[in-house]
Amino acid sequence: MSDARRRAVIFDLDGVLTDTAEQHYLGWQRLADEEHLPFDRAANEALRGLSRRESLLALLGDREVDEPTLETWMARKNDYYVASLADMSPADVLPGAVELVRDAKDRGCLVAIGSSSRNAPLVLDKLGITQLFDAIADGNSVERAKPAPDLFLEAARRLDVPPQDCVVVEDAASGVDAALAAGMVAIGVGPPDRVGHAHFRFDTPADVDLDVVLADA
Ligand code: G6P
Ligand code: MG
Repeated sequence: MSDARRRAVIFDLDGVLTDTAEQHYLGWQRLADEEHLPFDRAANEALRGLSRRESLLALLGDREVDEPTLETWMARKNDYYVASLADMSPADVLPGAVELVRDAKDRGCLVAIGSSSRNAPLVLDKLGITQLFDAIADGNSVERAKPAPDLFLEAARRLDVPPQDCVVVEDAASGVDAALAAGMVAIGVGPPDRVGHAHFRFDTPADVDLDVVLADA
């Protein structure tokens, strides 16, 4: 690898830089309770990393709902979710996450956000970390959500770094799938049964060791 090779690290947001899974869960649970749909914490685990629409479709299972109702329910869940972010602050950045982003930058990598969430700009703002990133690709940036590679490819395009020179940090199975489909190096953060198919796996963001990843990639 030449020193001039420009590389990038693309970070998923929810579950990697902050843990919003509980707020997403509470939003879906409230909607499900109001609409008498079966749902619980265990069912919520399957939604990790899915777009808002895919999450609702997974929650609905076999139940058929027309498009206007889908739109209304997605909007309601989002209202609950956004309201629950009112008290979010820089204290809600996961331990080691900012250090990991800074480490990537110190190694000369460009850094980007690749998040399925349409709320990513709001969450980054509340966490006070927007300015750390060279590019942001979010749920508004592409049509096809993860596990399609589109979002990560769009982040790479915005950084002007070839996909094969990008490393993705992800906590969701669908996100690891998206990184692999994009031809990028995938770092999974979480348990083996969720992200064990990534090229590298660490238990938490604080455990991610870029020495290991970048030496090998
Ligand atoms: C992230 C979260 C998912 C969420 C998705 C869309 O990937 O992990 O739980 O459904 O973003 O978020 P949004 O804020 O657009 O509803
Ligand atoms: Mg995630």
